[in-house]
Amino acid sequence: MRFADKVVIVTGAGSGNGRSIAMKFAEEGAKVVAADLNLAGAEETVALIGKGKEALALKSDVTLKSDVEHMVAQTIETYGTLDVLVNNAGIVAFTEFLELSEEEWDKVHNVNLKAPFLCSQAAAKRMIASGTKGRIINITSVEAHRIVSSSGHCQPHYNSSKGGLNLLTKAVALELAPYGITVNSVAPGVVETPFTAGGLQNPEVREWVLGRIPAGRIASPGDIANAVLFLATPESEYITGSTVFVDGGWTIH
Ligand SMILES: NC(=O)c1ccc[n+]([C@@H]2O[C@H](COP(=O)([O-])OP(=O)(O)OC[C@H]3O[C@@H](n4cnc5c(N)ncnc54)[C@H](O)[C@@H]3O)[C@@H](O)[C@H]2O)c1
Repeated sequence: MRFADKVVIVTGAGSGNGRSIAMKFAEEGAKVVAADLNLAGAEETVALIGKGKEALALKSDVTLKSDVEHMVAQTIETYGTLDVLVNNAGIVAFTEFLELSEEEWDKVHNVNLKAPFLCSQAAAKRMIASGTKGRIINITSVEAHRIVSSSGHCQPHYNSSKGGLNLLTKAVALELAPYGITVNSVAPGVVETPFTAGGLQNPEVREWVLGRIPAGRIASPGDIANAVLFLATPESEYITGSTVFVDGGWTIH
């Protein structure tokens, strides 16, 4: 039980990577707040966590400051503290640069970049006020570091939102280091989740993806969760401002 009595918020916990991260923290004894825009998804995650474990499903649109403040306040009211924030909620969209609308640009940046800013700021204020040497873990992407999309699957707004989150991780890590709070990111390659299900159903896309993964398989959400949990353990306390790539070796080349 590596996280007995630790309190963890996972955003976007109603599906895919977020669900797996929430479930693994709960298996290891943490009290988990599963926050999601989709309350039914968050409730399903809490049901999967099961009886005998402490978990709370919360409807939260993490692009809204009022929802984020409520999420953190509700966490403190329910469990008394906050040790770990996982900024996992994210959306993907494929549109070529010349076709990209202002609305789609804003939507992707609001969820993938503005929300981690809002959540991290609200969480860090609580952690500092209570003297908690907390952990903030951002889910970025290999797409924060290089353009890996296949032809016809352009996502400049996704790339820039995740690239921004990569540098936000470093900037916030620098500012919070004196408080003993670490801030890191986990950069998945391609993971089998509802996020990628549409694309990976296409045999050509699946083959293109598999051809780029030296490990020879697509990631499971559990692979991502394992790295996130490590960044919340005492053993990782000297790691801050870093990125852990969980990509089966995709970014080797
Ligand atoms: N699946 C992949 O291959 C992959 C690869 C690299 C990075 N990622 C990242 O992993 C994270 C999770 O992706 P996933 O594959 O599990 O996706 P998913 O679509 O399965 O889950 C995303 C969750 O985020 C929630 N969400 C969306 N907007 C929200 C908002 N405004 N407020 C609160 N919740 C919101 C959704 O309701 C959903 O439950 C994302 O940040 C994504 O960019 C995924």
